[in-house]
Amino acid sequence: MSFTATAPGKIIIAGEHFVVHGSYALAAAIDRGSTVHASPSSHPVIVSKSLGLVADLDGKVPDRLRPLAKTLTATLGWLNESRGVKCELESNIPISAGLGSSAAGSVALVAAASAALGYSLKPNEIFDLAMVSERMIHGNPSGIDPAVATYGGVMLFSRGAPHKPVQIKKPTGFIIGFSGVDRSTSKMIHRFSESQTSHPSTFRALVRSSSVFAENAAKALSEGDLNSLAAIMNFNHAILSSLGVSSPALDSLVEAALDAGCLGAKLTGGGGGGCIIALPPADRADTSLTLLRRSAAEAWISKIPQAGVKVWRSGD
Ligand code: MEV
Repeated sequence: MSFTATAPGKIIIAGEHFVVHGSYALAAAIDRGSTVHASPSSHPVIVSKSLGLVADLDGKVPDRLRPLAKTLTATLGWLNESRGVKCELESNIPISAGLGSSAAGSVALVAAASAALGYSLKPNEIFDLAMVSERMIHGNPSGIDPAVATYGGVMLFSRGAPHKPVQIKKPTGFIIGFSGVDRSTSKMIHRFSESQTSHPSTFRALVRSSSVFAENAAKALSEGDLNSLAAIMNFNHAILSSLGVSSPALDSLVEAALDAGCLGAKLTGGGGGGCIIALPPADRADTSLTLLRRSAAEAWISKIPQAGVKVWRSGD
């Protein structure tokens, strides 16, 4: 039987990087994601349509598919399965852009592959198996990306703890602006972590501050208090930039978003390239988007889907 699974990408609204060091971060699912079609086969195979690569797990595995291959091997091991499964992956999230494309792919892969072999894994099992590839790609990830891909919606996330869903009264759209520059999250995690060596006490204090800001951002978002939310986003960008994880392209995009009338703007995810998010006033979203498009490689307004990973039977 064939099964299809989809999982959303993510934005981090407040608290990236600090979350690796134990603080809360506020994250939300986006309206783009990864899709995996899986069907039983003689041995495990992954086909990435986005990368144009094929991994035969009994033979050759291209480097870029090694993390996903490791997650598929871990999934089959967890299920104690000797049967194979063929997984075809596609995605409409820009790759290496800080929007959680790798986590969305891993989560959808685990859900589709297990379903194709007749199993229904619990969300926490899907999350744990997706973390296998996330650790391989990002080195020391907090787990926020696979948490959003698994559970969807908006959440306060702290590593190693159950996520806290955040309910929003008014639907809020965020503008996502892609700088067109890809980058490596693991390098940025490393760079950010190094900033604790010179001033460890200040660093620890900032981690605690970031947690408070993320909680306040969650409250502001849930109450529709866009001005308070924007204030936290702007401050968050300034501190991330001063700790070396922004880039000239991201700083220019943030400037362009504020020029375009947005209330708040910041880098999102690992930084160093990738994307910004911006919060437009409710009645000016389309105008702000049109203006920001002049500066960004790609920009769109994303609503926040409530669903995380979804899986359904798609053929015999
Ligand atoms: C990556 O999306 C967010 C970071 O905080 C890393 C992590 O939490 O794993 C930069």
